[in-house]
Amino acid sequence: MWQNYILFRLKLFLARLQLTLTVRFKNELERNITIKLGYANAKIYKCDDERCPRPMTYKSYGSGKEDTPMCDVPGFENAKMKLLRHVSFVDCPGHDILMATMLNGAAIMDGALLLIAANESCPQPQTSEHLAAIEIMRLQHIIILQNKVDLIQENVAINQHEAIQKFVHRTVADGAPVVPISAQSKYNIDVVCEYIVKNTPIPKRDFISPPNMIVIRSFDVNKPGYEVDEISGGVAGGSILKGVLRLNQNIEIRPGIVVKDDSGNIKCTPIYSRIVSLKAEQNELQFAVPGGLIGVGTTMDPTLTRADRLVGQVLGEVGSLPDVFIELEVNFFLLGRLIGVRTKGTEKQGRVTKLTKAEILMLNIGSMSTGARVIAVKNDLAKLQLTSPVCTSKGEKIALSRRVDKHWRLIGWGQIQAGITLDIPPCPL
Ligand SMILES: *[C@@H]1O[C@H](CO)[C@@H](O)[C@H](O)[C@H]1NC(C)=O
Ligand SMILES: *[C@@H]1O[C@H](CO)[C@@H](O)[C@H](O)[C@H]1NC(C)=O
Ligand SMILES: [Zn+2]
Repeated sequence: MWQNYILFRLKLFLARLQLTLTVRFKNELERNITIKLGYANAKIYKCDDERCPRPMTYKSYGSGKEDTPMCDVPGFENAKMKLLRHVSFVDCPGHDILMATMLNGAAIMDGALLLIAANESCPQPQTSEHLAAIEIMRLQHIIILQNKVDLIQENVAINQHEAIQKFVHRTVADGAPVVPISAQSKYNIDVVCEYIVKNTPIPKRDFISPPNMIVIRSFDVNKPGYEVDEISGGVAGGSILKGVLRLNQNIEIRPGIVVKDDSGNIKCTPIYSRIVSLKAEQNELQFAVPGGLIGVGTTMDPTLTRADRLVGQVLGEVGSLPDVFIELEVNFFLLGRLIGVRTKGTEKQGRVTKLTKAEILMLNIGSMSTGARVIAVKNDLAKLQLTSPVCTSKGEKIALSRRVDKHWRLIGWGQIQAGITLDIPPCPL
């Protein structure tokens, strides 16, 4: 049973759908672990009765809802509904930290909802940034939501609909459905559910490889003043990319503890621990598989996980995690113009200039953000010295940002070709 349950899970990136979050997933938000993990979950159902009319035949509830509720469409009250999808929504907060958060989250997303406010002109700078991130991470299965349509006239909505289609023309979102909704008055939410079910297939999952989980949140669940024997170990939240984690499994976390020695060399020591609990939503699991977001309770010292300290690290089977890199060789592609910046003054200000030797960039690799110094550039190849080591593999995609007017701005992306790895001390167990 648990397997079915998890298999239907699907992750979605939710661009600033706070209204929907507060209106529709209020129960989820009241649970503290959910808040800390920064996501909300929902279940999407479809009525079993073929005659039940769409879109009302689709409906969503919070994750606490039973798996076979009754339909509430008039005339079909005797029909049962079938659970089609578990969906986790990762919220994307406002402006400055937006790109980093989004790019970090994008590594684990199966799809994206691009939210556009109907009562404002399109595109807003942040909408362009959202779309750029979706493009860079090659997220497919995009649904565009034209929100707040209750605030505008129909002809205005139709004009904006066309503006949206122009805006996404020749991007990865070209041809994506544009659904007029009102999150506040719950208008057309059933249509969104239908599109999620029909447009976002459940990706093929790998259950065979050694498990590999990307950490996107970590925390210490203990309250100040707990007695030593009451203290719980550190908790890591994230998404399994491949393989299966199981209760009581011994795990390794890389890069782990990172220190600089006396001569300034970076050394890392993986953290070894054991899984003492696995949680998806409010369910305690024996096993956790790819897809969706989970919380992993461990025997780790909780100070190691406090305040998101483990974000960007990789958790998995002892001895099977990828290498830890301290220098990367990437081939890269720069954007023509900065996105998300309203050009004031000259055109020049919005242009993305070439990479220069010794400049400092911010990289997003998986869910890790790290600073990097450009140590060499030749054509579309760059050598980057990382400020903090990253557990990753050749072929992984990275996003490049540069500081422009006090903000980190996305300037392009690249792919890891080679690099210098750190020596990892052998497992002491
Ligand atoms: C969540 O946290 C609040 C405040 O810290 C507390 O009052 C409440 O009982 C917690 N809820 C759960 C489900 O732990
Ligand atoms: C759009 O509506 C929101 C309220 O949902 C309001 O705060 C905002 O100012 C409106 N924007 C415009 C351009 O009217
Ligand atoms: Zn029905």
